[in-house]
Amino acid sequence: MRSTFAEINLSSLIHNYINIRKKVKNRKVMAVVKADAYGHGAVEAVKTYESLGSSSPEWYGVALTEEGIELRKAKVTKKPILTFSPFQYDELDEYRRYNITPSLSAFEQLEQIKLKKLKNVLKVHVNIDSGMGRMGVRFDEAVKFFSALTAIKNIEVIGIYTHFATSDERDKRFAKLQLQRFNSVLALLKEAAFSYGIVHAANSGAILDLEDAYFDMVRPGISLYGYYPSLQTKGTIKLKPVMSLISKVSEIREIKKGESVSYGRKFIAKENITTAAVPIGYADGVNRNLTNKIHGIIRNKKFEQIGRVTMDRIIFNVTNSKVQVGDKIILFGENKLSIDAWTWSSILKTIPYEITCNISKRVPRIFIK
Ligand SMILES: Cc1ncc(COP(=O)(O)O)c(C=O)c1O
Repeated sequence: MRSTFAEINLSSLIHNYINIRKKVKNRKVMAVVKADAYGHGAVEAVKTYESLGSSSPEWYGVALTEEGIELRKAKVTKKPILTFSPFQYDELDEYRRYNITPSLSAFEQLEQIKLKKLKNVLKVHVNIDSGMGRMGVRFDEAVKFFSALTAIKNIEVIGIYTHFATSDERDKRFAKLQLQRFNSVLALLKEAAFSYGIVHAANSGAILDLEDAYFDMVRPGISLYGYYPSLQTKGTIKLKPVMSLISKVSEIREIKKGESVSYGRKFIAKENITTAAVPIGYADGVNRNLTNKIHGIIRNKKFEQIGRVTMDRIIFNVTNSKVQVGDKIILFGENKLSIDAWTWSSILKTIPYEITCNISKRVPRIFIK
């Protein structure tokens, strides 16, 4: 096996999940496990939740029907799975065969269903766009949508939801406007006697900071994996990062003053130095723009990464240390010296979501408890 791996701490995953559950009290939880549980391994994450028995999540949320199928094939059969991607008629057989709940989100989908018809009842959630502007039925067309929907045979709405664009920002004005729009949709539907089932809206940002958005169920994603969605959300839940990225020193070399390291000669030694090569690169998810900007922890000490990040290998300056071939190196992870996905995401002007999702398939996930 490769000496590079992502260590997934399942105890931390449970810790985060339990703390989120406590925060939302008696609400149901849909654990969002799309994108292979944000790079952590969806099957293993779901199995870990399921081991909690009666306090396990009531629902799982995925972005793609295929992601739901993967869970079903791994014998996750007891819980409902919602796919957030817009309903596609050509996926109908898969929704049924694998018991995956699709999201209805546009009038065209109703037209298609009307044309091709449904032989048996299809249970769906309706996605309402209250301001995200990405997908979902516009909030001001929701009643019209439900009127059209109820005229079609065999569709049963078992849930309704919306998604926030800014719940992770300190300024909650837009999130509150979305909430107000969604609430008025619910009121109008109620008034018109349309049934819509379970109501859900809150992603991690809203779970942390917007209790009015909890409704019947919440949908945490990034917080399950140990990160706040932004640095602006209040620290109202204790979270532990679940993923650590680990490798081993594969080679030690001496570089003389004036010599360069790696492609493009982006590092020139100002003195004689000792370097350590580590077998991880941008093909594993170490973005090339991290070149000369990150550190690795070896023997409880931080060492600078030097020279261009290459596809399979990066180099560290380990001058005047006892670092040896075979030493463990922590690139990020929960550690006394604290390098986490925020450290990388701040450099890359992105968010921890992208860092963990981008740890590629060729990095084995090692699950620890
Ligand atoms: C529809 C939906 N709900 C919930 C989530 C979870 O969001 P977060 O990871 O910010 O908690 C996502 C992720 O983007 C989503 O697309």
